[in-house]
Amino acid sequence: MHAYDAAEQVENTIRLNANESPRRSTIGHFRRPLNRYPEVRPQKLQAALADRFGCRADQLLVTRGSSEAIDLVIRTFCRAGEDSVLVTSPSFSMYRHYAEVQGADLIEVKTLPEQDFAIDVDAILGACQASTRLIFICSPNNPTGTVLARDELERLLVARSDASAIVVDEAYIEFGDKPSATALLDRYRNLLVLRTLSKALGFAGARCGAVAGPVEVIRILSAVQAPYALATPVVECVEDALQDEQLALAEQAVLDTVAERERLAAALMNYDFVRKIWPSDANFLLVRFDDAAGVMQRCQEHNVLLRHFGGALNECIRISVGSRDENNQLLRALDTLKGTNNG
Ligand SMILES: Cc1ncc(COP(=O)(O)O)c(C=O)c1O
Repeated sequence: MHAYDAAEQVENTIRLNANESPRRSTIGHFRRPLNRYPEVRPQKLQAALADRFGCRADQLLVTRGSSEAIDLVIRTFCRAGEDSVLVTSPSFSMYRHYAEVQGADLIEVKTLPEQDFAIDVDAILGACQASTRLIFICSPNNPTGTVLARDELERLLVARSDASAIVVDEAYIEFGDKPSATALLDRYRNLLVLRTLSKALGFAGARCGAVAGPVEVIRILSAVQAPYALATPVVECVEDALQDEQLALAEQAVLDTVAERERLAAALMNYDFVRKIWPSDANFLLVRFDDAAGVMQRCQEHNVLLRHFGGALNECIRISVGSRDENNQLLRALDTLKGTNNG
């Protein structure tokens, strides 16, 4: 793969090489003119995000949310009808979605319910096939909140070193105290790490994330990604979000969320229709109720939406941790079920 051959962009030149409009619009307050294409890859943002995520700029590609990174990685590594993607279950459903879009086979490996849905590295290694190009590890896992220990991740990286790339999705890592796998990038050439600005930084609407990995892989992923993928308003918004003052506010918001997560977990323990609350390193709690459908219904009547799961997670609901007021509203809704044997 070669990078797209884009029109040259040089500051302080007259740009008659990209069929752009010469008229600079007056809407919005952007530092860069919107009549011009953005950079093919936003260099300053790439450097700032690499610094934040603990890798070098040439080990990182900025993407439209980590969702785009999942799609890019699967399209780059997997041939339709030939290669396979291994996912753990239950986990984030977008890995499956993009594997299906690409026509890659899917291998699903169950996590261990009796061990708080721990990721089972032996089962993963046993399920891998010659065709397995990618193994997705979501840590902390959505929706169970589980983390894969560093030594287990390294065992997987070593065992599959010449066969599969291990994609560690760290969308929720800021809500726990475990270090990022980006620290391992210089040691393993089959490691990819996904990060996002949608959760801890609070910029889901900006659609910005990143994939970090070996330089040669990042170069190929960059060649596959659409040229000019990151729009000027997004680039400028995220550059602003990465200023010290904004980062300090975001860090406080993470601390608030973690405190609320613990308060919510303690409060939920008091309902006799709550059967189990799993430990969580993320911004959500997984909770098993006597009657999850009844809880969903009652919460909806009180204007609170939750996420209900089935399968191995029967009677389980994932509750995203909201603001103090939002969480209180949830608790008020649950109060109305008291003494009803959960409806
Ligand atoms: C585990 C995980 N990875 C990735 C994403 C996608 O995030 P985004 O595309 O907003 O970066 C999500 C969103 O919920 C998620 O839960």
